[in-house]
Amino acid sequence: MSSQQTFDDAPQRQTPDSLLLRGFWYRALPSDQVYRYALAKAMLLEIPLVLGRDRQGRPFALQDVCPHRGMPLSCGRFDGSHIECSYHGWQFDAQSGQCQAIPSLTPDQKLRVERIYAGSFACEEHDDFVWVFIPEPGPASGGFSRRADVTAPVPRVPTFSDRYQFAYLTSELPCSVDHGIIGLMDPAHGPFVHQAWWWRRRESIHEKQKAFEPIPYGFRMSAHIPSSNSAPYKLLKLYADADSITTTIDFTLPNLRWETIRAGKYWFASLTTVTPITRDHCRIDVVAAWNLFRRLPFGPSLLQYVFAKFVEQDRRTMELQSQGLKHNPHLMLIDDADRPAKWYFQLKQAWLDARRSGTEFRHPMAGPVLLKWRS
Ligand code: FES
Ligand SMILES: [Fe+2]
Repeated sequence: MSSQQTFDDAPQRQTPDSLLLRGFWYRALPSDQVYRYALAKAMLLEIPLVLGRDRQGRPFALQDVCPHRGMPLSCGRFDGSHIECSYHGWQFDAQSGQCQAIPSLTPDQKLRVERIYAGSFACEEHDDFVWVFIPEPGPASGGFSRRADVTAPVPRVPTFSDRYQFAYLTSELPCSVDHGIIGLMDPAHGPFVHQAWWWRRRESIHEKQKAFEPIPYGFRMSAHIPSSNSAPYKLLKLYADADSITTTIDFTLPNLRWETIRAGKYWFASLTTVTPITRDHCRIDVVAAWNLFRRLPFGPSLLQYVFAKFVEQDRRTMELQSQGLKHNPHLMLIDDADRPAKWYFQLKQAWLDARRSGTEFRHPMAGPVLLKWRS
């Protein structure tokens, strides 16, 4: 039995269209970067977007390209309901993208302005982020297509009580979304990348066994008493009875990592996404909610400090890794530590196959699996 798999047979070297999964919601910008009466630029899956907030405070997202002659709409003016292109003054409704006026038309010219659209995307705001739905590419109809339908609800951070605290952290990674995601689920880098005197030392490496099971479009590391591997766990242990702690970590397509830790009435939950910006650039956003430390003055900042430290260690590592990846090396994934990474590539391929053939999604995992590694 082979314990190696090169990336060559994974969807690594395919066209960018298949590398970046469409038909999903993606985090576009943190809410506090989208202002009323202002335009903000963002990029998702190599699609340039202009985001803003209308007079009522509702966010919107349009393709940052004027359907007339391609001027970025973000260069235009926004009055709280319409965007006026800076080149020839065409006006578009910010929410629907529908063209409202073309100043060069004379009264006898009967061009049906209302049939023209600037590309518009479904846009919703949840958990401190503006999310944008990137649909499957439709038939080419340059400038005349309305917004595509949304096929799924926006992913939300799970919460387990009425009162809780909330924070987010964001960091850009100079690598493809695939490397960002498999870096996130990789258990073997911990002892080498995430060293700190208050956390763990390299010598603490030991054998671990974890149960995994398939879930819709992803897999779950089953609820169990954690082996001191996650940052909130260490803090939780100080706070609650360690024996009562259970944690669940799910990964689901296209880019979602859900972590839930519960200990009696206390809980911590996070939804981490790795968002493709371009084919070799992604961004990690960790959004966490918890009801711990409410009476502990430094609790939340301590938690954020720990998270920021971890994410920064990962970012620095991937920055260095990208120097090697520039030369397009042959890579390998080994069992069992890289098995979750293999599942990720298989899930992605299964999704693309289902889309292409119009058949049902076939989950690559047959059932529960026990994995062993040292970390
Ligand atoms: S390019 Fe936008 S109005 Fe002409
Ligand atoms: Fe890490």
